[in-house]
Amino acid sequence: MLLAIETSCDETGVALFSEDGSFIKHLLYSQVALHSPFGGIVPEIASRKQLEVLPHLINQLLKETHTDIKQIKAIAVTFGPGLIGSLLVGVSFAKALSWALKVPLIKIDHLEAHLSAIFLEKEVKFPFIGLLVSGGHTALFLVESFEDFKLLGHTRDDAAGEAFDKVAKLLNLGYPGGPKISELAEKGNRKAINFPRPLLEDPVLDFSFSGLKTAVLNYLKINPDFKVEDVCASFEDAVCEVLIKKTLKASKKFKIPRIVVAGGVASNKRLRELFLEEGQKNSIEVYFPSAEFCTDNGAMVGVLGWYKWKSKNFASLEDEPYARAKFKKYKY
Ligand code: KG4
Ligand code: ZN
Repeated sequence: MLLAIETSCDETGVALFSEDGSFIKHLLYSQVALHSPFGGIVPEIASRKQLEVLPHLINQLLKETHTDIKQIKAIAVTFGPGLIGSLLVGVSFAKALSWALKVPLIKIDHLEAHLSAIFLEKEVKFPFIGLLVSGGHTALFLVESFEDFKLLGHTRDDAAGEAFDKVAKLLNLGYPGGPKISELAEKGNRKAINFPRPLLEDPVLDFSFSGLKTAVLNYLKINPDFKVEDVCASFEDAVCEVLIKKTLKASKKFKIPRIVVAGGVASNKRLRELFLEEGQKNSIEVYFPSAEFCTDNGAMVGVLGWYKWKSKNFASLEDEPYARAKFKKYKY
């Protein structure tokens, strides 16, 4: 069996896959409640909690699947990008276990894992355009295979999820902001406020969300009697429009009629509806993992991990975790 471990941020994820690639089970421990009073993730708290939780979660996974630790024949773990303290917990644990069990260690990139999560539930043909939208990342990829992820563009400032979280903070809605904004937006007028759509008409496939957040801040200052539902609805639609139009632009540019949307923000209901609608209009297939696999989890690490296990793409005990994304922009 393959054991997969994810500890790049504030979620501890573990998963088991059998030798033939079938997904057995995953367990997830989220620290959201722990960080919520601070209005965002506190890295030092995150890594200490990872250390406390990870061994127990693995034991629980083995117990619930009636697996003996000696049945583990490979270990896949997220090496980056993410919070370095959190990453070190998973990577050190995986290295030690791989050394003790004398089984291969497999190095997984967090962004590639998010975009591979779709394969837990669906077979998508390569190549596809991958949009990763989470609290830490907003990036577009041309995915040719499990070994070939080409970065087409990324955010120049805030990630889309970060924009949701920051706007929620301005509105005193608590953390994480995405689900709360989404819920209030359902009751608002989406055309009430014309917030900017940053870089929408720009030919580059980059994003920018910090100006949009500032526009919301300015609106709230000028309009103290604002209607929170309208702010949420208008903001949500501005983010969705930029994400969808840019991704469709990439799909048309590379003549690839398949899009995979992944990451925490991919569970946004409005984004899903609008994406599917636009996809249908343009004869483009749009795929989303179910909400359970949009957020950080161990199962997505296992999908890529199994592939690398079978192609004998192993890491060394000297390999180190990395905090920043490893991708250089692909020249197109
Ligand atoms: O992928 P994720 O769980 O963690 C990483 O950042 O890697 O993403 C978390 C982000 C948060 O910023 C959260 O506000 C956002 O995803 N999010 C949403 C929704 N659910 C989570 N944003 C918009 N709408 C949602 N329904
Ligand atoms: Zn993530």
